[in-house]
Amino acid sequence: MKESSDKMQKILVLDFGGQYNQLIARRVREQHIYAEIKPYNKITTDQIKAAGYSGVIFTGGPNSVSDPKSPHFDPAILDIGIPILGICYGCQLMAYMAGGMVEGAEDSSEYGKIEVYARDNILFTDVPNKSICWMSHHDYIPHPPKGFTTIAITDKCPTAAMCDESRRLYGVQFHPEVTHTEYGKQMLHNFLYDICGCTGDWQMDSFIEDTVSELRETIGDKGVVLGLSGGVDSSVAAALLSKAVGKQLTCVFVDQGLMRKDEGDFVENTFTKLFDMNFVRINCQEEFLSKLKGLTDPEDKRTVIGTEFYNVFWNKIRESYGSGFFAQGTIYPDRIESGKGDASKIKTHHNQVGIPKDIQFEGVIEPLKDLFKDEVRAVGEKLGLPHDLVWRQPFPGPGLGVRVIGEVTAERVRILQEADAILRDEMDKCGYAGEMSQFFAVLPGVKTVGVMGDERTYSELVAIRAVTTDDFMTADWAKIPYDILGRVSNRIINEVDRVNRVVYDITSKPPGTVEWE
Ligand code: XMP
Repeated sequence: MKESSDKMQKILVLDFGGQYNQLIARRVREQHIYAEIKPYNKITTDQIKAAGYSGVIFTGGPNSVSDPKSPHFDPAILDIGIPILGICYGCQLMAYMAGGMVEGAEDSSEYGKIEVYARDNILFTDVPNKSICWMSHHDYIPHPPKGFTTIAITDKCPTAAMCDESRRLYGVQFHPEVTHTEYGKQMLHNFLYDICGCTGDWQMDSFIEDTVSELRETIGDKGVVLGLSGGVDSSVAAALLSKAVGKQLTCVFVDQGLMRKDEGDFVENTFTKLFDMNFVRINCQEEFLSKLKGLTDPEDKRTVIGTEFYNVFWNKIRESYGSGFFAQGTIYPDRIESGKGDASKIKTHHNQVGIPKDIQFEGVIEPLKDLFKDEVRAVGEKLGLPHDLVWRQPFPGPGLGVRVIGEVTAERVRILQEADAILRDEMDKCGYAGEMSQFFAVLPGVKTVGVMGDERTYSELVAIRAVTTDDFMTADWAKIPYDILGRVSNRIINEVDRVNRVVYDITSKPPGTVEWE
């Protein structure tokens, strides 16, 4: 598949190591213009010129431009005729590249919401002369470089925005991409539409149409095989491929018995009833459980589950589908490199799997490789995938294997599945499910004494875990109302055999992790 359609307008987000690089690209795409992120040290001015970008955005970054070790770029880029918007460090870098001064002084730092006074300028069309912007900088530009004029100031910052209209170069010291900048969206719109001349041709409908016809062209009359996990990305990839090539697609779904209650059936029903494809389900719970017998160490369990999955999946492919194309649900964040330094590498991710050397496909197809997660969901909805599948919470690759603490047995998986299903049912019923990023039950493998009727019991403890988070790197435990927790606890104890106590995990990440293992 082509990187992106040749005719499509696109914006380059040149990454200088800022924390908002992905956010900038998403903001551009929200305005219906395709954006891609490249680290500053992985692309040259000539390549930028040749690629036909409509505009370039220099991101922020943690460095000081006067530090020789800080990321720099070839100043010739300012003269190739492509509009540029420099943000924060990107603005200072633009000033520096144009021969201007950038200085650092303790009392010139600005952090947080700052009042910005703007002059009339194309970048500020429909933006009031006084508005709140988000600042986070120590260095500042005392006066704009030759050829540039100041178009905004703050009480402390003499150059809060600058431009060289003749070369269509714009720089802002603040961050238009964050929502705290009241008119940030309008400013980006002005840059993209009025300065770069974009027309907004990046639409999910046209993405689907273009991708389907590209997939047909690439695949021809060959077969294509996709490993379906039931997660959002592989499901949307499957739906897209089904639309493109129907029965030429075979989805292989390995059900290791460690999914949530009835989840394997839900995935099978969805894909066999709603889509045209060959669906192969491999039921291998017993094999997995026998390999897991006696194992209690979390890393050993993860390794066994991963290895077993790999073997079962590839043996099936070898046996029946080892030709034609191989498809996977890689999405854009899986393959973005960061501009934080030369040592940056593409992260390996569970969406990208290694193909055994003895299996030779004609090619690997990644139809979602240019999309962010929210775009993948939008495509899924347009293709008619059920809401529950499109909006599903992350689920760990090793499944309930890392939520049954200690040894994984069929009975312990069953107890956890029952308890987890009750939790999900109650959360859905009270409408609280959408308030949380992820919630699930855990079986810690602890037995406690209880009393039911007049009988002493000595049974399993179930823990509830629920978190809110933006990125899963840090997370807060969710403040679920007591009455909901009470209902969940009552139902689990009454309805799940061999459970007599429920506790709620009130640990944030850090110091805890989201999963217990
Ligand atoms: P932790 O426990 O690391 O979880 O705080 C963060 C997020 O990652 C998910 N997770 C996994 N996903 N394979 C996966 O595909 C794994 O081994 C794994 N471990 C954790 C977890 O569910 C949460 O969303």
